[in-house]
Amino acid sequence: MRTSELREKFLKFLEERGHKIIKSSSLVPENDPTTLFTGSGMQPLLPYLLGRPHPDGKRIADSQKCFRAEDIEEVGDNRHTTFFEMLGNWSFGDYFKQEQLSRLFEFLTSRPEDGGIGLDPRKLYVTVFAGDKETGIPADEESIEIWKKLFAEKGIEAEYVALGSNGNGSEVGMRNGRIFSYNVRKNWWSRAGVPSKMPAGEPGGPDSEVFYDFATAHDPKFGRECHPNCDCGRFLEIGNSVFMEYIKKEDGSFGKLAQRNVDFGGGLERLTAAANDDPDVFNIDVFSAAKDYLERETGKSYADNKKAFRIILDHIRAVVFLISDGVVPSNVGRGYLVRRLLRRAVRFGDELGAVQGRESARSSLSSVATAFIDEYKMAYPSLAKQAEFVLNEMEMEEKKFRSTLKEGLREMERILANGVPVGNEIDPEKVFFIYQTYGFPIELIEEELAKRSLFVDKEKVKAEMKKHQELSRIASAGAFKGGLADSSEVVTRLHTAHHLLLKALQIVLGPEVKQRGSNITAERLRMDFSYGSRMTEEQKKEVERIVNEKIAEDLPVIRTEMPIEEAEKLNAEREFGQKYPDVVSVYSIGPKSATEDDPKFKEAFSIEFCGGPHIRRTGELGGFEIMKEEAVSSGIRRIRANIVKRES
Ligand code: ALA
Repeated sequence: MRTSELREKFLKFLEERGHKIIKSSSLVPENDPTTLFTGSGMQPLLPYLLGRPHPDGKRIADSQKCFRAEDIEEVGDNRHTTFFEMLGNWSFGDYFKQEQLSRLFEFLTSRPEDGGIGLDPRKLYVTVFAGDKETGIPADEESIEIWKKLFAEKGIEAEYVALGSNGNGSEVGMRNGRIFSYNVRKNWWSRAGVPSKMPAGEPGGPDSEVFYDFATAHDPKFGRECHPNCDCGRFLEIGNSVFMEYIKKEDGSFGKLAQRNVDFGGGLERLTAAANDDPDVFNIDVFSAAKDYLERETGKSYADNKKAFRIILDHIRAVVFLISDGVVPSNVGRGYLVRRLLRRAVRFGDELGAVQGRESARSSLSSVATAFIDEYKMAYPSLAKQAEFVLNEMEMEEKKFRSTLKEGLREMERILANGVPVGNEIDPEKVFFIYQTYGFPIELIEEELAKRSLFVDKEKVKAEMKKHQELSRIASAGAFKGGLADSSEVVTRLHTAHHLLLKALQIVLGPEVKQRGSNITAERLRMDFSYGSRMTEEQKKEVERIVNEKIAEDLPVIRTEMPIEEAEKLNAEREFGQKYPDVVSVYSIGPKSATEDDPKFKEAFSIEFCGGPHIRRTGELGGFEIMKEEAVSSGIRRIRANIVKRES
């Protein structure tokens, strides 16, 4: 089965069952400053899971472009990719477990001519939530019963095996089970991971996953016995139904959301691999043309060079989608990940012999990129329009990389010139530094070292990588790095203060002042803005005075959705470098008489493109104080500020 066929089938299946199909959002989260990338289908829909009515109703489905930076190091096996499409369907307080699981099972197992993808139900295994003592959230008995019945209808007696209490499937093994329960580490889902890692205001819930059995032999390297969550490659997770009905409260306990939601996500590429009964995700059709190009250009075969091919295919596909969503290579944040992906791919390409300029003066991997653009342009028409831009960015970045490579070699020589270490073992941190900074694959560094009879302990380098991986995971999955720390009350209040501050800065320093970065935690708000010189004491006082005046006026804070053109006409403040969807969310503050039905934009104090959350009236802020104003870089200043209790 082709990937596009599977995508269409899923969307049609859901549409016929009352779902409105929406377009994929950008890989750069829109109106959500809390995360670097869109890493799951639910991210753009967060406000609706929290209870805001979705304009298209309670049943939504889509195929969402996703990127997970934390998986970069995993790429190379038969199933991990950094970029993927997540097929998703949602119930916002509509259907729940029974309807979700039976519909999913029907889609997976019914014949292609009946709208499904024809998986053999005997090859499907499922997992459910075992319950959690710490939060008091009970085991998901209901899903066990639903799954038992669904399998029984196919003539399969589905036995249940509890793995949850000890959480170690490799000790219990498969028994004769088909339904397995695991603890929070495997069967609880939230953007931040397990319940203890969730910030206040974050929704989450127990989930039920479906695995496809490729019936390959178990590899004991991954544990004594095989089980659905084993990483040996026999089982592939193809879908996850999250029953999102909980929210973490300020005091750390869990309460129920106002509505019971379903958040389903299934990896399109993995589902296609399962439909083709081939455990190698890189054998699905979307990779074929790119793979052929690479084989032709390098004269090497995929079969003999799987790891290098997979890394190049995955990374270049991700680079194409990321650049076309406006993320260009750079040294920080999102751009840094594009840089890493591209440089890594180029190194592996060099090893295979994909020499720059072989086909044209472009990037050595431009034909791989072109193959992906051709492959996806039907489903994502903007790719074709962006092709030139993508290829140019790739070419420029590769040039820069080749000159840093030379520096990297020199750096390695410098390190070695400091003397050969005892036992000829090089410090793993240094090796990681070279790997990280110059994009040298570890294998290449090892080769270089070996020429001088030196070596490095790869396990220790891996430990360094793990540390770093955790950092990228935090940065991309929950991050809470470059924006709001969470959606707690105090952060929400500071967010509204942030809007008032920006406007006040523009009034005092001039309308050319623009926000260049923002970070809000429970302790303070921080804003970077463009301005050429240090603020005077008088200017700071005046900014404070204006913000406090607006707080005292107790202005309403109003959210309105509108087409982007309309928001632009209103001159709404937008974030620099941010891409916005066709319909945007805008927050306006004031005038006093504004209401949701009549926001009176012309008289508003501040209007910004923003996804929220915000408080309802500025009076809730009490008072406002600037703590510090300093330089960040040339032309960029940074303000730290806080809200304070108003003195009466
Ligand atoms: N949000 C769920 C996931 O990403 C479906 O697995």
